[in-house]
Parts: sequence; structure tokens; C-alpha cells
Amino acid sequence: MKKIGFLGCGKIGQAILAHVKEQRYAEVAFIADPVAVIPGEPVVRFCEEALLEGVDLVIECATADVLKEKIDMILRHSDLLMFSVTAFSDAVFSEKAEQFCEEYGRRIFIPHGAILGLDGIFDGRKVWNEVKIITTKSPKSLGRTDTETSVVYDGPTREACRYYPRNVNVHAAIALAGIGFDRTHSVIISDPAVSTNAHTIVLKGDGIEISMDISSFAAGAVTGAYTPHSACGSVDRILGGMTGQLFV
Ligand SMILES: NC(=O)c1ccc[n+]([C@@H]2O[C@H](COP(=O)([O-])OP(=O)(O)OC[C@H]3O[C@@H](n4cnc5c(N)ncnc54)[C@H](O)[C@@H]3O)[C@@H](O)[C@H]2O)c1
Repeated sequence: MKKIGFLGCGKIGQAILAHVKEQRYAEVAFIADPVAVIPGEPVVRFCEEALLEGVDLVIECATADVLKEKIDMILRHSDLLMFSVTAFSDAVFSEKAEQFCEEYGRRIFIPHGAILGLDGIFDGRKVWNEVKIITTKSPKSLGRTDTETSVVYDGPTREACRYYPRNVNVHAAIALAGIGFDRTHSVIISDPAVSTNAHTIVLKGDGIEISMDISSFAAGAVTGAYTPHSACGSVDRILGGMTGQLFV
């Protein structure tokens, strides 16, 4: 049976944990989280290297900063499924991650998370000449106090990740799959009237035009209602040894 460890176990982590316990296809080696209280589970406050011995997959659902600190240690021992995709906007992290994957023969899985279709965006990466994402969230979700609808960011995705690291993982994942952090265009709107996280994604290139509108009730501080479901599906595809129809 595969062994997994959690780095961070809040909204997304606990949804995955419950799913894995129900499906019984993996053993939970550790759950590293400074505050989580999960009776009957191997919760520790800090992720130390000894915990990673024999672990097949670390599931990161903490923050980009935590991931930046632990990336070397994790990839030395295990593959990684990471939800804090904004970490990749940091060129140093990105280079290190690539180098460690090569050196230790590891894989990093980027989940589709709050949106759909990263595989399709990746497949078309040579043809896109315009990729734009417009995200509308409540001021609370963005850590702001706006009382009127405001465009709070309009520019390259790399900078959006620096200003809103916990809110634009969707932008980071699209940039990574598509045309990169400097050519992808991010717009972030703070709207006090909404209780959803909404994303409009537009891809154009070589006679192709794709647009997607995705809206999900803001179930957690930063996470919408769809993401826990999508996260469990991603874990199933990585670990579940699925048979029958597979969507690739
Ligand atoms: N890829 C996507 O589409 C997508 C969608 C939603 C959220 N996210 C990202 O996924 C991550 C998790 O989201 P969430 O809603 O579960 O957040 P959450 O706030 O509910 O949980 C985060 C957990 O990380 C823990 N944590 C903090 N510091 C830690 C440390 N040093 N070591 C270990 N754990 C630590 C916290 O105690 C908390 O329990 C966030 O970075 C979020 O921005 C990504």
C-alpha cells in the first residue's frame, strides 16, 4: 500500500484525508500542521525529514512559503502533489524544483484545483499567443476591506502571485501549463457583493479561441466549494490504481 504524508491539513487537506480513509488505497504516514486537531491521526506540528522515510507522495495544502522552505527535503524522499502553485512564480523555487526532480527522479503533480482543463492548456502551449484570467472574489477572501467593486490588480501573473499568493493559484497553474508567468495576463477584482470565487479564462492562438467561466461558492477563506472534490479526484488519479473508464 502507498504511503502518503500531508504538509498542511486545513480545508483541502481534510477533504483529501477523509476521502483516502474511505477509499483505503493509501496509508497516512504523517500529517504536519502547526494547529490541526484530527483525533486518531498521526498529526505532528513540524515536518521533519525523518517523517519522509518510505513516503511515496507528499500532499501539500499549506502555503507557498512553507513549500519553498521544504521542497528540497520533500523531493529527496517523495513525489509531491502541490496546491500552493503560486510558489512557481518564484524563479529560484522553480529552478530548484526542476533540478531536484531531475536529481532525485521525482514527479511534481499540479492539480487542476479550482478550475478545469490544465491538461488541455498544456497541450496547446505552443499555439497560445494570448492567455488572460480575470478573477472576482470578495474583499474578505482577498484580505482587503473594499466597500466598492475595485480592480485590485491588472498585469503579469508573476506579480499577481507576489501580491496575492493564496488567491491566484489558478493563475499560477495556467501560467505554468501555458505561456509562463510573464506573458500570462492576470486581472483581480474585489467585489463586496459576491460570495463566490469566479474565474474567466480566455486563451487565443492560431485560429483557436477558448473561454471558460467558473464560479464556485467560497467555502473556505481562500478555497471554493469545487476544489475539495477536484482535489480528491487528482489523488485518485495519482494513487488509486483506477480501472475502467479514465479521463485523461
Ligand atoms: N490550486 C488551486 O486551484 C487551489 C485552490 C484553492 C486553494 N489553493 C491553495 O491550497 C492551499 C491550501 O488551501 P486550504 O483552503 O486547504 O487552506 P487552509 O487555510 O484551510 O489550510 C492550510 C493549512 O496549512 C497549515 N499550515 C500553516 N503553516 C504550516 C506549516 N508551516 N506546516 C504545515 N502546515 C502549515 C495551516 O495550519 C492550515 O491548517 C493554499 O495555499 C491555497 O491558496 C489552491
